[in-house]
Amino acid sequence: MAERIEILLSEEEVDKRISEIGEQITKDYAGKDVHLICVLKGGSFFMCELAKRINLEVSIDFMSVSSYGDDTKSSGVVKIVKDLDESIKDKHVIVVEDIIDSGRTLSYLLQNLSDRKPASLGLCTLLDKPERRVVDVNVDYTGFQIPDEFVVGYGLDYAQRYRTLPYIGIVRFDD
Ligand code: IMP
Ligand code: MG
Repeated sequence: MAERIEILLSEEEVDKRISEIGEQITKDYAGKDVHLICVLKGGSFFMCELAKRINLEVSIDFMSVSSYGDDTKSSGVVKIVKDLDESIKDKHVIVVEDIIDSGRTLSYLLQNLSDRKPASLGLCTLLDKPERRVVDVNVDYTGFQIPDEFVVGYGLDYAQRYRTLPYIGIVRFDD
């Protein structure tokens, strides 16, 4: 089956929005150090761009999780494949995600992180598909709300492809 990528958000639009979020975080956390946690692999492209635009002392760490169950639907039972390198106790933590879909993965992750007693715990996502939400999660910063379409680029993949596209595109299947 042939597939093509239809541009949903251009590189310029994404870039501008990330700058705005960076400015907002800079204001909201004024006087504090910010500890960004990237959920691998999808969140990594967004986190790097965002980190450069936060005008505060910023540290970063990475976590990798996989959800049990089939590939198309996240079960909410999450396995930590790679845990953080550093403790987050008493830090101002912001989790940086590529996309929130059902919310199952994040809901587990946020509970797990809050048990480690950070000073504060925020959530920032580049994309949000609100129509797909199954579990309620409180999102502090959203890049774009998008329709229920499968998207790639800017870190997001389809079977490990298309992550390196500098824009967000919808995967269209033509036959
Ligand atoms: P959920 O919120 O637990 O359902 O899972 C969210 C995860 O599913 C994201 O972090 C992505 O890895 C993946 N995902 C959800 N929607 C898309 C999409 O449109 N394109 C690529 N990956 C997606
Ligand atoms: Mg992800």
